[in-house]
Amino acid sequence: MTDDVLVVHGGTPLEGRIRVRGAKNLVSKAMVAALLGDTPSRLFDVPRIRDVEVVRGLLGLHGVKVSDGEEDGELVFDPSNVESASTDQINVHAGSSRIPILFCGPLLHRLGHAFIPDLGGCHIGPRPIDFHLQALREFGATVDKTPEGLHLSAPNGLHGTKFALPYPSVGATEQVLLTAVMAEGVTELRNAAVEPEIIDLICVLQKMGAIIKVHTDRVIEIQGVKRLSGYTHRPIPDRIEAASWAAAALATRGHVEVLGAQQADMMTFLNIFRSVGGEYEVTDLRPPRGGRPGQEGGIRFWHPGGELNAVALETDVHPGFMTDWQQPLVVALTQARGLSIVHETVYEQRLGYTEALNSMGANIQVYRDCLGGTPCRFGRRNFKHSAVIAGPSKLHAADLVIPDLRAGFSHLIAALAAEGTSRVYGVDLINRGYEDFEAKLADLGAHVERP
Ligand code: EPU
Repeated sequence: MTDDVLVVHGGTPLEGRIRVRGAKNLVSKAMVAALLGDTPSRLFDVPRIRDVEVVRGLLGLHGVKVSDGEEDGELVFDPSNVESASTDQINVHAGSSRIPILFCGPLLHRLGHAFIPDLGGCHIGPRPIDFHLQALREFGATVDKTPEGLHLSAPNGLHGTKFALPYPSVGATEQVLLTAVMAEGVTELRNAAVEPEIIDLICVLQKMGAIIKVHTDRVIEIQGVKRLSGYTHRPIPDRIEAASWAAAALATRGHVEVLGAQQADMMTFLNIFRSVGGEYEVTDLRPPRGGRPGQEGGIRFWHPGGELNAVALETDVHPGFMTDWQQPLVVALTQARGLSIVHETVYEQRLGYTEALNSMGANIQVYRDCLGGTPCRFGRRNFKHSAVIAGPSKLHAADLVIPDLRAGFSHLIAALAAEGTSRVYGVDLINRGYEDFEAKLADLGAHVERP
C-alpha cells in the first residue's frame, strides 16, 4: 500500500488535450459477448485497464484465444475451442471485478454449465445480484450458491421468458440480453436499462446475428436464434472518463479537450456543466457514431473565470445524470457559490468519499432524507444518500486513501485543486477504469510524482 501512492502538488490548472477510448462499461461486456460467436470477433479502442485484463483472463481460461490485433487497442477473440475451466483457476479472479456474473448466459449456452467466482467491483453499497439470478432462473437455469462461488446449469436448455426488472439495472439488463439472444423462443424484458452502453451492446449482438427490438418505455424484445457469429466493433467512447476530466478542468480552473468525447451520450452532463458555469465546445464535427478514426475531435471543457454557480441535481438511470459522474463533479461544486444539492438515487452508499473532501476544507453535509423529487428506494431505509455542498471552499492538501474507482478520481481532482502537496494512497485502483491516467495527468501539466 505504501508504494501505491501519488504525491500531488496541487493548485495548477489542468491544461491540454487527452483522449478517451472505448467505454469500460461496454468493452468488458462486448468481450463476454465474443464467447457466443462461432467465428472470431474484433474489438477496437480497447483501453488498457484492469477490468479488461480480468475479462481477458477469464476468456482465456475458457478456451477463447485472445490476441492483439494490428491497430493499437484492437483485440481479436477466437472462440472456436470454448472449454470448461476449473473452479480453482477461475477463483484466481475472485473479488476482482463484477463482470464475471455476465459469463452465466454465454457459458450456459456454450457448455451447459458455468462457475462464477465471488464478485468484486467497487464498494459502493451491497450491490446484490438477485435480479441476475432471478432472470437466469426464469430462463430455466438452476443456480447453486456455494461458499466457493455460483454453480449454474441448464439441464433442459434456456428458454425465452417474459420478465420485468424491479429496477432498470444495467448489469441485469445485460445478463438478460446475453442469455436471451440464444435462448429458445422470444424474451420480453420490461423496465430494462437503456444506457448508451446497453444500446451499444445490442449493436454488437445484432452484428453477431441477434434479433433485438428496443421498444419505447424500457421494453426490449429478443427473439432467440440458433447461432451467432463474430462481430467487428468500435465501441462508444467512455463518457464517464470524459466527464471526469471535464470536472477536473472545472475544479482546477483549467482547460481540457477530451478527444473522443461524444455530445449525444453526455447531454445530461453537459447541461449540468453549463448550469454550474463551466463552458464547453463540441469539437467533434463527425456525424454521431460515424466518421473514421484519426479525424476525431471531442469536447473542450474549461473554467471561464469568475465564480461557479451552485446547482441541485439527482443521479438517475439513463437519460438521467449518471451516478458515476457525481463524485468528480462534486469536487467542482465545492468551488461554487451557494448551496448545491445532490440526491444519489442509484446507489445507497455513494457519498462516503465526501468525508475526505471535508478533511481538505470542503463543507459537505450528508443526509438520510431524499433531497429531490425523484422517487428513490433509499429514503426510508436510513441511508445517507443526499448531500448539501456549501461553497466556495478553499481546499488544502491532505493525505487521502482512495476507497473506490470514481471516488478515487474525485480525491485526485481534489488534490489537484488544493493548495499544497497531498499524498493520495491506493491510486492503483484508478487503473481499474482510467487508462494511463498518470500519463494523461502529465500531458495536462499536473505536478504529480511517485515518491
Ligand atoms: N441492483 C440490485 N440487484 C441486482 C442488480 C442491481 O438491487 O441484481 C441494484 C444495485 O444495487 C444498484 C442499482 O440496482 O442500487 C443499479 O445497479 P446496476 O445493476 O445498474 O449497476 P451495475 O450493472 O452493477 C453498472 C456499472 C456501474 C454503474 C452502474 C449504473 C459496469 C461494470 N458497472 O453497474 O459503473 O455505476 O451500472 O450506471 O457496467 C463504475 O464504472 O465505476 C461503475 C460502478
